[in-house]
Amino acid sequence: MLIDCDPGVDDAIALLTAMSRADLVGITTVNGNVGIEHTTHNALAIAQIAGVEVPIHRGAARPLVAPTMDAAHIHGATGLGSIELPALSRDVDSDDAVGFILDMARSVDNLHLVAVGPFTNIALALRRDPTLPQRLGGFTIMGGAAGPGNVTATAEFNVWADPEAAAMVFNEFPMLTMVGLDVTHKVLLGPAERDRMRAAGTPASLLAAGLLDHAVTVASEIRGCAGAPIHDASAVMAVLRPDLFQGRSHPVSVELHGPLTRGMTVVDQRVDGRNGTNESPANAHVLFDAQADQVVTEIVDAVIGLQVQG
Ligand code: BDR
Ligand code: CA
Repeated sequence: MLIDCDPGVDDAIALLTAMSRADLVGITTVNGNVGIEHTTHNALAIAQIAGVEVPIHRGAARPLVAPTMDAAHIHGATGLGSIELPALSRDVDSDDAVGFILDMARSVDNLHLVAVGPFTNIALALRRDPTLPQRLGGFTIMGGAAGPGNVTATAEFNVWADPEAAAMVFNEFPMLTMVGLDVTHKVLLGPAERDRMRAAGTPASLLAAGLLDHAVTVASEIRGCAGAPIHDASAVMAVLRPDLFQGRSHPVSVELHGPLTRGMTVVDQRVDGRNGTNESPANAHVLFDAQADQVVTEIVDAVIGLQVQG
């Protein structure tokens, strides 16, 4: 697995989950929840705290066309709530996330690319090498929604933050797995999960508990919910345990122009036979549901079980 991300509270828990349960060949960072300096610093700090050695490459500092926006009001000014990060003991392996993604796609058999931030790096990779889709074993994104958005009434953050990049990705990948808000809003981690993480007392689980303190507070303030959607960790689990998720394949396009709909993923769910025809073939397996309790348990178990290397 290779994760392209913008940590971000939920990205951080996704990374810890993948570090524990996946064969993680690398991490690439992108501007998104906060600026590229913070997302990259956070990726390095998360790996350091978890005691995991993994290549980390810095990626795009701004969207393809759209102005730079962030989600610091959700994730905190640094992107990781109020977590105090250690001084870094290493730097990134390069500033060429796109080159790294393409190298890995060429050299790793059956690589699964998981993109959980705005899709700028992936679009730039497609531009540099349009054969990228054929070189991957799978491509899963956290992004989009068939139902309501979370930044606007119609748009989800990762698509909204760089809609032109998202449009390229949906247009050029023959098939991807879309872990959108339809499913991520059903997988909630709350105080019980935070307490389990904290009680485990490992560096990774204490970090995750601190992040959940922040996420649970924000979720109760913004959504009035006791639990928080840890979107990106759900995307990682959808790769590791696809049996715990249910979806359908549909044609999906990204709306770029409407003043009310820019950044919307238009999921064609018509049941009159026109959905997924030759004219407009299905290009996304859209997840709608999950065995939420089991997914939550798997995420917590993964973080608690993360072994420090060396
Ligand atoms: C997505 O947007 C970001 O704020 C999160 O990290 C997640 O990837 C949810 O809409
Ligand atoms: Ca993210």
